[in-house]
This record gives sequence, structure tokens and C-alpha cells, in this order.
Amino acid sequence: MAGFRTLDDIGNAKGKRVLVRVDLNVPVSDGKISDFTRIERIMPTLTELSDKGAKVILLAHFGRPKDGPDPVFSLDPVANAVSAMIGRPVAFAADCVGKEAADAVSAMKDGDILLLENTRFHKGEEKNDPAFAKALAANGDIYVNDAFSAAHRAHASTEGLAHLLPAYAGRTMEAELQALEKGLGNPARPVVAIVGGAKVSSKLDLLMNLVKKVDALVIGGGMANTFLAARGESVGKSLCEHDLAPTARQIMIEAASAGCAIILPSDGVVAREFKAGAANETVAIDAVPVDAMILDVGPKTVETVNQWIDRAATLVWNGPLGAFEIEPFDAATVAAAKHAAERTREGKLISVAGGGDTVSALNHAGAADDFTYVSTAGGAFLEWMEGKDLPGVDVLKA
Ligand code: 3PG
Ligand code: MG
Repeated sequence: MAGFRTLDDIGNAKGKRVLVRVDLNVPVSDGKISDFTRIERIMPTLTELSDKGAKVILLAHFGRPKDGPDPVFSLDPVANAVSAMIGRPVAFAADCVGKEAADAVSAMKDGDILLLENTRFHKGEEKNDPAFAKALAANGDIYVNDAFSAAHRAHASTEGLAHLLPAYAGRTMEAELQALEKGLGNPARPVVAIVGGAKVSSKLDLLMNLVKKVDALVIGGGMANTFLAARGESVGKSLCEHDLAPTARQIMIEAASAGCAIILPSDGVVAREFKAGAANETVAIDAVPVDAMILDVGPKTVETVNQWIDRAATLVWNGPLGAFEIEPFDAATVAAAKHAAERTREGKLISVAGGGDTVSALNHAGAADDFTYVSTAGGAFLEWMEGKDLPGVDVLKA
């Protein structure tokens, strides 16, 4: 890929100690990994390097430990999951620097894979402390970053290390950067963005950037209520950041001057309680009862959204249209996701989606596999959509 060194540029990797930064920050519930997507995503890089005879040394963080080593945040169980998926042994070292790590690395044979303990057990990681980066670098000849989803952090293992060793993008990083380039960097037009989720306040920078870049912006989820209220609609008991009305108006003004159409819901599914199966009705958006809350956009809105998807050459999607985690308020998100999946399958649409909730919503709709690219990144995907430079990506630029 232009501008980045990839695994193709490494040359002969045999016998080389390759430090590979991966994202193994997988969701765990009841002590079990509940989603293996991030582990799946690193398989191409791991397999390729191991097949080439490199000594593959994995660096990763897990959770947000506050005070040094803590068994709750140990990567030890994750080593088994990686091993099971790749079908090769994956050794584990109880520290990512120092004697423990050095001994484990010197015991490696060509093609072996080793996972080092959580980098965040050391304060130097998040501080991007050069001394800590140097201690990490002591175990490698080459650095590969395959963790786009952690690339918004300027940490020692995501940024500092790239200054100390020859640095390359892994296969997943490469695929992610290519997909994102197609999504917003240099997209086929028209570009339509769907942005949903609860709060405008968490996505202000995102909305401001998008109205300058896309041809149409669909706003759904709780955040649409703030826009509706800013336009003078009464949204009853709906989630709404009334104090952000001026900001919402500003975004609509910016959109108008940039020639970006803003699509707000024209109808909504309302209920009196936030609960799966709650009694509900569909109402026009100017007829929301004072004691009800909007939990999903209505079928008319879905029709409009689908028409915009039909017009789009490129779709970028972040955030659900309604409270998709409780049925039946997942209906609009599921319908639009299925429609985008179908258009993509037919070769008529490039669809790029990302963000934690978005991925579960698309999985729930059975649509994720048909999308052109679904990013597992949360914060990093948002920052990319906000037009920000990601330190872990910048440092890989050739
Ligand atoms: C993520 O899960 O979004 C990444 O692994 C980054 O984790 P962080 O938000 O704790 O830095
Ligand atoms: Mg996060």
C-alpha cells in the first residue's frame, strides 16, 4: 500500500525476532472470551510470519489496569485462545520486558509464537516512556503493528517502538487502512454516512468533520432527538441533550453550506418504558406523546434511509439507528443494515462500518459478513472518522 511499509518489504524474516503489536483487548464475560473477532483478525499476520520462520513475539494490552500487574488483566488465558485458533503452540511470558521476557525469547526457535504479558502492567507503556520502549525493543529486530484499533494511543508499544526498530504495517492494519481510504479518504461518490448512538456530545467532532466530507448524513439513535428538539419538535421523554441545541443547529448550518443533506427521522417508534417487548406505537415525528420516548426510527424513515443507501456509492456507518439491544427496537437498524448488505453483495455499494456497538448491531442483523469492511476498532475508528491523525498509523508512514 502506498505510503506504508508492509510485510512485503521485510525481506527474509527467517530467524528474525519480530515484535508484533496486536489488539487482544477482547471482551470477556464470566471468565470466557465472548467475541473472537480480534483474535481472528491477527491470524493472517501471525501465520505468514511464522511460516516464514520468524520468531513471532506478540505485544498487547488487556483492559485498563491501574496499578501494575493484576491477575484480572493477565493475557495468560488469551494465549490459549490464540493457540487454539492458529493451531500452533503459543508460549506465554509473565512479563513483557526484563529477564522473564528475554529468557522466553531466547528459548524460541524459528517459526515459534510467544505472547508477552500485558504491556499496561508497566507505567511506561501509556506514558510512552522512551526507556520502557527501549526495554521492549531489546527483544526484537523488527516491529510490526497489526493493531489499528489501538493506533489512536501514543503508547510505547503502539508508537514509541516504531522509532526504535524498522517498522511495518501488519496485514490487518494494511487491510484496515485500505478500507478506510476507500471509505472517506478518496471515496467513490456520492458518500452517505449513517451516524447513530445515544449522545451528540460524544460525537460532535465526528459530525462536524462528516458534514464537510459526505454528501448526505443520516442521523439516528438518541442523538437524532437532540437535532429534532433543536428544530423545535417536542420529543417527549426521549433521551435528549437539550443544552446542545445551539450546537446541533450549528452542525445543520455547516452542513447546508457544505452541500451535505442532513436526514433526520420523519417517524419514530415510541414506548413508555425502556424494556424489551415494551408496548409501543409508531408516530409521526411531530406527534410524539409527552409521556413517551422514541426508541427507534419508524418504517417511513427506514424507507428514506434505504433510498439514500440506493443512491450512495459509498456508505460509512457508525452507531445504531435505535435501541437495537432490546427488541423490537432493533427493527430499523436491522432493516437498514440488511439493505446495505444486499447492495454491497450486488456490487453496487462500498460499505465501511466500525465502532463497538455498530459491529454488534451488524452481527445481530446478520449483515456484517456482506459489508465491504467492518472495523473492530472503537475509539480509533471514531478518531479516524473525525479526521484526526492516529499516532500509531502516522509513525508507520514510509
Ligand atoms: C479498544 O478496545 O478500543 C482498544 O483495544 C483500545 O483500548 P483502550 O481504549 O483501553 O485504549
Ligand atoms: Mg476503547
